[in-house]
Amino acid sequence: MSEEQMNDSTFNRLFIIMILAMTALTAIIMVLASVASSEVNEKLDARSDRENTQAVTSRIAPVGTFSATTVAATPTAAPADLTGADAYAPCAACHASGAAGAPIVGDAGVWAERIAKGTEALYSNAINGIGAMPAKGGLSLSDNTVKAAVDYMLEQSK
Ligand code: HEC
Repeated sequence: MSEEQMNDSTFNRLFIIMILAMTALTAIIMVLASVASSEVNEKLDARSDRENTQAVTSRIAPVGTFSATTVAATPTAAPADLTGADAYAPCAACHASGAAGAPIVGDAGVWAERIAKGTEALYSNAINGIGAMPAKGGLSLSDNTVKAAVDYMLEQSK
């Protein structure tokens, strides 16, 4: 073998060794990379599973809920009729103390002139409002409740 041939074969051998070494290195890097990423991938998979479940749950959740108790508790357009002291109770805010110049219940003298107008007039003024008194005293009451309250007030003011 000549000097040149020796050099060529040395080069060829070195070249093949280099290729093999680089192939082996590539393989090692691939194995390491897949080991390192598998753990991360597991975590990512678990997270996207969770997020998907949440997203689906919120998407298929009902838009609103219906509660029979809420509907039942909501005051209706026509409030229930109260009678006697129960009907008068909210009126006492003004009529027990004379607030805003309200005729005080129990003061027969003050009521005598009002009773002279007739009970129907008192009903109607109590329902529609009079002077400083707002309609129904500013309360949400049925007409019958207001009338019952007036009856009670007159009864207490004889
Ligand atoms: C915000 C205070 C207030 C409340 C609450 C109130 N009143 Fe009066 N009420 C007055 C005032 C003030 C007058 C006197 C108005 C006037 O004669 O100028 C009056 C007058 C009256 C009169 C006499 C009306 C007339 O024609 O002379 C009646 C009857 C009466 N109220 C009934 C009621 C009843 C029933 C309630 C409850 C449902 C009630 N009031 C709640 C303030 C109130």
